[in-house]
Amino acid sequence: MPRFVSAKPDSRLIPLPWGTPLAEWPTEYLVALPRGISRHVVRFIRVGNSVYAAKEVIEHLALHEYRLLHDLMRMDTPAVEPIGVITQRVDGDGEPLDPILITRHLEFSLPYRSLFSSGVRQDTVTRLIDAMVVLLARLHLIGFLWGDVSLSNTLFRRDAGQFAAYLVDAETGELHTQLTDGQREHDLVVARTNLFGDFLDLQAGGMLEETLDPLQLVDMVELRYRELWAELTGVEVFSGSELERIEGRVRRLNALGFDVAELDIQTSDDSHTVRIQPKVVDAGHHSRRLMRLTGLDTEENQARRLLNDLDTYRFRTGRQHVDEAIVAHDWLTNVFETVLAHVPNDLRGKREPAQLFHEVLDYRWYASQRESREVPIAEATEGYVRDVLRALPDEDLSSDALAPLDQRLADPYDPSRGFADSDDDPPPYDPWEDDEAEAEAASPYLDINAIRPRAASG
Ligand SMILES: Nc1ncnc2c1ncn2[C@@H]1O[C@H](COP(=O)(O)OP(=O)(O)OP(=O)(O)O)[C@@H](O)[C@H]1O
Ligand SMILES: [Mg+2]
Repeated sequence: MPRFVSAKPDSRLIPLPWGTPLAEWPTEYLVALPRGISRHVVRFIRVGNSVYAAKEVIEHLALHEYRLLHDLMRMDTPAVEPIGVITQRVDGDGEPLDPILITRHLEFSLPYRSLFSSGVRQDTVTRLIDAMVVLLARLHLIGFLWGDVSLSNTLFRRDAGQFAAYLVDAETGELHTQLTDGQREHDLVVARTNLFGDFLDLQAGGMLEETLDPLQLVDMVELRYRELWAELTGVEVFSGSELERIEGRVRRLNALGFDVAELDIQTSDDSHTVRIQPKVVDAGHHSRRLMRLTGLDTEENQARRLLNDLDTYRFRTGRQHVDEAIVAHDWLTNVFETVLAHVPNDLRGKREPAQLFHEVLDYRWYASQRESREVPIAEATEGYVRDVLRALPDEDLSSDALAPLDQRLADPYDPSRGFADSDDDPPPYDPWEDDEAEAEAASPYLDINAIRPRAASG
């Protein structure tokens, strides 16, 4: 009998065929979605209207990863949500099978290969790198040593004009009270090595803009990480006549999306010099404020955008002196919800609500510029739905077939098996199987965008 370890059990998982190796599960349980490269067998399974990711992995790793993901969730750090581990599996012949770790599929998430599949421009890469750097710094702030930073182990979600990065693979992670500089350096070295490989792989597949150089990109990751870390934790010393620099530091951190929970301030005996250092900083400055005012749970940059719109609304309705919480409530019903109400149901899977709202604001701004008048929000929403939203691929399950491939995958549930009609082609490139450094670089094979049409037709 399989055994379930779970803090929040989903009873619909119990009747699934746990006695079958995950790779052989009947497709009726599976859903084909894009994903990154993995060593283990990973499948997306559907029960009712929930989608979970299942990974078959040896017991101590499964439990270790489950617990770490749980800790990350508790500390409000962006990572996939652990659901449970199924242990004590045996197959029909009584042979033991490896446990399965279940995590909730991260909605609207984009594995990097689907982001890159249609070719990626410089500024998109920069935004992805920034998102990744913020994730790494957030993990380090809470004492989490990742050990396996890579593009495949990261999921991205749209966050207004930026991206937000989530950790997806915590297998190698370790949680400490605080990381030493040496531990952080270790993660940076791993990040450089893995990301360099990831970028080379994309370059070889023709998915990286020609002007982008993998080495420069990893240098950029390292540089930006160091800059962010210095801003988040660095010591600043100034003269006692420049006390406004304390406030300035807090504001800069807020602008980066962090709150300062503890700022250490020391003055010299003669009060001539002041030394400040943030001791505890928490990410989510804007998203927490938006949550407090409206109950909306959004990414950080989306929150920034929505809060700006709320401020504008407050100004426009002449209520600067009214309690902000009251205005926020009105804004929510009169503006935010009005926009969503204008979006037909069948198009809602294309964008998360806060992202959609952000895109409507952008649309309205351009429309207003073009027509030299202030386009009302309802009209802008209709225009956005008509001109933009209809044409967008669905992203609720990240099934964004960005660039439909004309080839079919052999197994839509396992992109690493390559394409259906390519019997005499060499097996697909799998970097983990690749002992020889000079082996052929990856082809766009592992790219998973074709699975949707294929799943639909199969
Ligand atoms: N909860 C989830 N939501 C969305 N995608 C997921 C989720 N879990 C896994 N994936 C996808 O599956 C891929 C493989 O998962 P994961 O990295 O955990 O496997 P792995 O075999 O441990 O990888 P590695 O080879 O790095 O050890 C990820 O890159 C991601 O695209
Ligand atoms: Mg992985």
